[in-house]
This record gives sequence, C-alpha cells and structure tokens, in this order.
Amino acid sequence: MAGAVTDSFHDLSGLERAVVDLVRVGVRGHGAGVRQLASRLMRSVPTGVQDVESFRDAVHEAIAAGSDSTALRYVSGTVPTEGDTAHPLVDIDLVPDGEGLVLSTQVMGDLVEVLQERRRADELRRAGAGPTRTLLLSGPPGVGKTMTARWLAQSLQLPLLSLDLSSVVSSYLGTSGRNIKSVLDYAKSGPCVLLLDEFDAIAKRRDDDSDIGELKRIVNVILVELDRWPDTSLLIAATNHPQLLDTAVERRFDRSLTLSLPADEERRAILDNLSTGFEGVDTDALILATQLTSGTTSSDLTRCWSLAHRRSILNGSTVTDELLSQLARHVSRAGPHRDKLFLTMRDTLRMSNRQIAALVGVSHPTVAAGIKRAEGVQRDGGARQRSYVATTSRQRRGTET
Ligand SMILES: Nc1ncnc2c1ncn2[C@@H]1O[C@H](COP(=O)(O)OP(=O)(O)OP(=O)(O)O)[C@@H](O)[C@H]1O
Ligand SMILES: [Mg+2]
Repeated sequence: MAGAVTDSFHDLSGLERAVVDLVRVGVRGHGAGVRQLASRLMRSVPTGVQDVESFRDAVHEAIAAGSDSTALRYVSGTVPTEGDTAHPLVDIDLVPDGEGLVLSTQVMGDLVEVLQERRRADELRRAGAGPTRTLLLSGPPGVGKTMTARWLAQSLQLPLLSLDLSSVVSSYLGTSGRNIKSVLDYAKSGPCVLLLDEFDAIAKRRDDDSDIGELKRIVNVILVELDRWPDTSLLIAATNHPQLLDTAVERRFDRSLTLSLPADEERRAILDNLSTGFEGVDTDALILATQLTSGTTSSDLTRCWSLAHRRSILNGSTVTDELLSQLARHVSRAGPHRDKLFLTMRDTLRMSNRQIAALVGVSHPTVAAGIKRAEGVQRDGGARQRSYVATTSRQRRGTET
C-alpha cells in the first residue's frame, strides 16, 4: 500500500498534485528529490496558481534558503550525540508550529517587537544596537513557554532546536558540560532558534555543594555563551522557577518575559481558536466555559477541549456540551457557586433542569432547588454577575451579526 498512487490522486488539480508529490518526497527525506520537484514546478507552473511570477520567485527563494552555505546541516551524522552513542543531544524541529498562541497583550507586544528587531536588524546594527539575541521566558507550567519558542521560530522561519537541560544534567552529569557546549556550538553554526528548556535545572544548583564542580562549569559555559551569542540565532531559555536563578544569570539575557496564567480574555481567545471550524459551537457555552475555567492553565484548557472533542465523537454530542459537562463536574460541591452555574445554564443556555442534571451528574430536583436558591440570592441584590453574563452574550451576538 505504501507509496501506491490511489485513484483519488488522479482527481486532484495540478496544484494539489504538486503539493502531494512534495509531501511524498519530503517525508522520505529526499532533499534532492524535493529540489528537483520544486525546479519542475518553476518550469511548468501548475494550474490554479494565480500570480505565476510571484509563485516562481517564492519557490526560487525557498530552494535558495535550503542551499545557504551557512545553513545548519541537519542530516544525521552531523547532529551532536551523547558520547559514542547515536543518541542525539538536541531535538530538531524543521517546521515548528506555534499556531494559536494566545498571551497577554503586553507579552505579545514584546514578542512582536523581537520579530520587528530581526526584520530591521541591519538598521539596528548600523546604529550599534543589534536585535535581541537572548530571551528568558519565565512562568508556571502550562502557560506556553515552549509554545512561544515554537511561535517565534515559526514567525522567523527558522528551525527550532530544543535542549532539555534537566535531562542532560541528570543523565550525563559527568559529561554534560561538554555536551551542552557541543549543542551550543552546533546551534551557532547556522541561523536557528535554540530553546534551552528547564533552564533552572543547572542554574539552581550552582551553590549546591554536591555537584559543585561540574555544575559550576556548566553555568560558566552558558554565561560565556550568553554574552557572545551571535545575533543570527535567537537563544531562548525557559524556566518555571525564575526565583532559583542567580540574578547574575538573569541579567545576562537581553530580555526577560514573564508569562502568567491566562486571564478571562485570553481563555476566551484560546477557546475561540480551538472551536474554529467546529459545528454546533454555542457562543454562550464558550462564555460560561471561560468563567468556569478561571485559574486554569492554557495547557489544561487545551487538554479539556481535546477530551471534550473525543467524547463528542464517541457520544454523538457537541463539543461545547461535553466541555461544559466536564467543567460542571468540577463544580460538584454544593454551594452558591454551583447554584449560580445551574441558573446560568438555564437562563443563558436555555437548558431544562433535566438536561442540566444529566450534564452535571446530579438529580433534577437538586438542580431545581439550586436554581431557586440562586434566584433568591439574585433578588436580594446579587444580580450583577448574572447581568454580566447576559450582557456579554448579547453583545457578542450583536458583534457577530
Ligand atoms: N499561551 C497559550 N496559548 C495557546 N495554547 C497554549 C498556551 N500555552 C499552552 N498552550 C497549549 O498547551 C500546550 C503545552 O504548553 P507548553 O508546553 O508551551 O507550556 P509550558 O509553559 O512550556 O509548560 P512547562 O513549564 O510544563 O514546560 C501547548 O502545546 C498548547 O497546546
Ligand atoms: Mg515547556
């Protein structure tokens, strides 16, 4: 079956066939084959391409970028490995994907500035300033540090090289200084984004007597590299524990950014991104999901969505129903919070008590009693929260039409 040209291939347009051909040759790692196909594409531009000249220019540029003499050599045999083994020390992602990254406006602004600096690097160099070369990303687990590195690499159209310092330090302590140096040298040999993940793995133990010799050497290797890192590559270090870093280390970075747990607008934007292209997504349900996930990490939110997606396929339901059901179960403890949730589900999502009961996993009299209590609270002056939900959903409907 592998490699067979199926009937559906013949139904494709010229442009679609060209893409499939490129993928077929690309996945086998035939660089020469890809180049050959690309040259053929330039000679006979497939039907469906609107601007032939721009297409030829773009393909030509893509071929030229691959044969750049300063480009890293990614073929096996040149990637640094652990000692005499074939185990590569660094993970290489030639087509990094950071699509869908959502961060606060301020942090996003900083990242866009990093990209602008690279675009106008010559101008900056002439003025004696140069672009940001090194960047420290701090923040709790699951807020998107690794994803930010992918997003930057993708935006800069550079490969992403990742080195997990915690595993290098723990598994090969005796040789980790040498290993890290060889990865840094390799990364410097051509334009790329280098991610030093779990950066605190080395920094935090600098004053620890037990491994003092080797770890001190590693820290020193990295400090020296930070100072003379070339501006053709971008070095990103990521840590969950910035407080463990020596201030001397932190100060060596050109920029330091702190990523936080996603605020309401960010969780909403992540849910909007995830729900793009899904049928039967209820906007009001997304608003409610946003409220129910306060304090959740972006990573947990994404995982919740994926789980709901899988369940919706298995159960023949909508993703938003599955998502709310999952989230509502977390608010399982009886109390004003759960009562308010029942009320919102009835008023905003127009659900019956039985539907709410089935979704949350309680009996319908429990739902009825909860709604009654919540209505009482509302009458007594607690109306603010509910009107917020109603207004927001109305506003959204207004902006969408
Ligand atoms: N800011 C974000 N915007 C959109 N999706 C996100 C964001 N942060 C995390 N995610 C989702 O969660 C996944 C895991 O996030 P990521 O690995 O980038 O977090 P991290 O901060 O590096 O966590 P850790 O400290 O555990 O390494 C991402 O691949 C993505 O699907
Ligand atoms: Mg990470």
